[in-house]
Amino acid sequence: MVSSQYTIRIEPLGKEVMAKEEETVLEALRRQFYGRDGQPFFPGCRRGGCAYCKAELLKGKVDHHMIYSRAALPDEERNKNFILTCQSRPLSDLTLRLLKGVHRSPNNKNS
Ligand code: FES
Repeated sequence: MVSSQYTIRIEPLGKEVMAKEEETVLEALRRQFYGRDGQPFFPGCRRGGCAYCKAELLKGKVDHHMIYSRAALPDEERNKNFILTCQSRPLSDLTLRLLKGVHRSPNNKNS
C-alpha cells in the first residue's frame, strides 16, 4: 500500500506536522499547528488574498495554484521560493519558515 503523506517541518520552531494527500499546506498546519501548544489561531483568508499564510519554502516542492493575489505574493517573491500555504499542496517533504503568526517558545534557549 502506498501512502502519500508528507512531513512539513516548521522553522524556526523545528516542529513537524503531517500533510495528507490532497491537503493544502495550510490545511495541515491548521489541523496540527495553529491554535495548539500556545500558537495563535489562524486568522487569514484561505483564498490567496491576504498574505497571512505566506512562508519561505526552504526545502521541498509544492504544487502552487496560479490564481492568487499578486499583492499577497508578488512574482519576485514566488521566484525566490516564497509560497502562500493556502494555495500550495506538498509534492515532497517540506521545510518552511513561517513569516507571521508564530509564537516562539521562551524555553528554547540552548546556551
Ligand atoms: S490565508 Fe490569505 S493568502 Fe493564504
